[in-house]
Amino acid sequence: MKHVLNLSDLGPGGLRRVLDHARARKTARRGLPQGAPDSDAPLAGHLLACIFEKPSTRTRLSFDVAMRQLGGEAITLAAGDMQLGRGETLEDTARVLSGFVDAMMIRANRHSDVVALAAAASIPVLNGLTDLSHPCQIVADLLTVEEKLGRNTDGTRWAWVGDGNNVCNSIIEAAGLLGFSLTIAAPAGFEPDAAFVAAAQARGATIAFGTDPDEAVRNADVVVTDTWVSMGDTDNADRRRAFEPYQINPMRMALAKPSAIFLHCLPAHRGEEVTDSVIDGPQSLVWEEAANRVHAQKALLLWALGKLS
Ligand code: CP
Ligand code: NVA
Repeated sequence: MKHVLNLSDLGPGGLRRVLDHARARKTARRGLPQGAPDSDAPLAGHLLACIFEKPSTRTRLSFDVAMRQLGGEAITLAAGDMQLGRGETLEDTARVLSGFVDAMMIRANRHSDVVALAAAASIPVLNGLTDLSHPCQIVADLLTVEEKLGRNTDGTRWAWVGDGNNVCNSIIEAAGLLGFSLTIAAPAGFEPDAAFVAAAQARGATIAFGTDPDEAVRNADVVVTDTWVSMGDTDNADRRRAFEPYQINPMRMALAKPSAIFLHCLPAHRGEEVTDSVIDGPQSLVWEEAANRVHAQKALLLWALGKLS
């Protein structure tokens, strides 16, 4: 059973294969309309159930489009419309869905719920964002950076500025698996998950911490940020105050290498964590990053279903 609950489930070799496969499959279908299946339609006849406990634009669409392009179909379910919303257990839901579909993707409030779902499922489960991590997003980020560089991320310096949140945790995992160096600037009290940091460092990753966003961005190859208030966060006013000095604006972006790439998983809160001039500027690859969700998801689905050689 191959679940994708975190990036580390792939291991370094699996992540490399997923990235290479995503790029090759993307190239192979160039010129086809978005809904046309890939020529080999490797998931013909396969069904994916996508369960959402929280809103989504990119994850919802990219998994659905990914399944269509792979020759299969996705069924999207709002958790609140399911018996799950009335107290049917996650474990029972997992057992039932395992009899209906070939794989499940879930966006959940609590990471522990996704772990419980996966433990009871007899089909692969993919994490479409939890409070802890967002692995599918980071595969798209890596794909985007590698496409731009024309090579892998070896020797690159990444800067994360802002909340040490779910997206940050998955970038930490990527740094551990691929070996690029990562500097995180977050206000005190908003640091990333200590276990993710320890695991990446145990793999030999260089991960530096600080509270100074300028220091983090200086000489970076990749600058990444995310919303100051994630879905499920309630302390909005406190957060906005703490994060105000952490905005990515043109002056800060100018501290990075001239060739630096700006990434943001989206949705962006323009004028908060990033200015219009940066997100709409020449260094921003956020639209490519969003579009790459489809290609990332396709490779992850094939990996989870045991179809990547
Ligand atoms: N980046 C991302 O996961 O976007 P959605 O919340 O729209 O799915
Ligand atoms: N950190 C954000 C990511 C949204 C895709 C959130 O969890 O809301």
